[in-house]
Amino acid sequence: MSELAYEAAGRLARSGSASPGPDARLLVAHVLGLRPGELMLVDEVSDEARAAVDALVERRAAGEPLQHLTGEAYFRRETLAVGPGVFIPRPETEVMVGWALDRLAARPDGERRVVELCAGSGAITAALTGELGGLDAHAVEISPEAFGYLERNLAGRGVGLVLGDMGDAFGELDGTVDLVIANPPYVPAGHRNLLPSDVVDHDPGIALFSGADGLDALRVVAAVAARLLRPGGLVTAEHDESHAPAVRALFAEAGFLDVVTHDDLARRPRFVTARLP
Ligand SMILES: C[S@@+](CC[C@H](N)C(=O)[O-])C[C@H]1O[C@@H](n2cnc3c(N)ncnc32)[C@H](O)[C@@H]1O
Repeated sequence: MSELAYEAAGRLARSGSASPGPDARLLVAHVLGLRPGELMLVDEVSDEARAAVDALVERRAAGEPLQHLTGEAYFRRETLAVGPGVFIPRPETEVMVGWALDRLAARPDGERRVVELCAGSGAITAALTGELGGLDAHAVEISPEAFGYLERNLAGRGVGLVLGDMGDAFGELDGTVDLVIANPPYVPAGHRNLLPSDVVDHDPGIALFSGADGLDALRVVAAVAARLLRPGGLVTAEHDESHAPAVRALFAEAGFLDVVTHDDLARRPRFVTARLP
């Protein structure tokens, strides 16, 4: 069995894959319905399973994201359903969620109303509701395809979901929200050619690109957060590492105080936090 994963890893390595070993183990485990750590317990593999692994390895070697092949993505403690049409959650966003959890945990039960803008698969809200009780959580997403995944991933968690534009969502919550969180699209429209092909070819454009300077959606996030938050409420939003000063400026212009840039796990400046006066 490990021989099958070994062969698959060799094929992925020859195709230039960045992580052939882990990818091969995940694909073989996916086909066999096991966790990667259980692969060593399997002696015999059917011809059908071998053929299914071969087909997935071929697709992975051609550049399809691993998460589209398995239909799953991992984010903090959550396993999310993903596929074509929805942004694959990234590990760099996990640090921003940690910041939000710390701030929400410091608030009493009944004062933990949180709104996620640009929710995609729902990874952020799934992690928030999965790791902290007493949340009154709401999330908005504009893409109908992504919204299908959002509904599926947050089913049964009591989250208020809206399919629509964040610009005019949740008017009924104006002035009452404790924390607004967003990982919006933030790539300048002209930078399409600078992105790796596995990103451009497989993440939806609406999840990536946002106007000429990449800041259009972040301007809306700042305006919507200023509308939704109660006095003293907090906002956090992810951004490109090259945009930290511009993002701080646009949150300050929207009326926020304590506007601070934070690093991701790779020590790149990747998310802003701010407080409404
Ligand atoms: C970078 S993805 C982030 C998804 C998810 N929050 C995550 O971190 O994995 C941005 C998401 O914002 C959505 N989006 C873009 N413009 C929007 C808008 N005006 N209103 C609501 N959602 C929007 C996209 O469809 C996409 O799902």
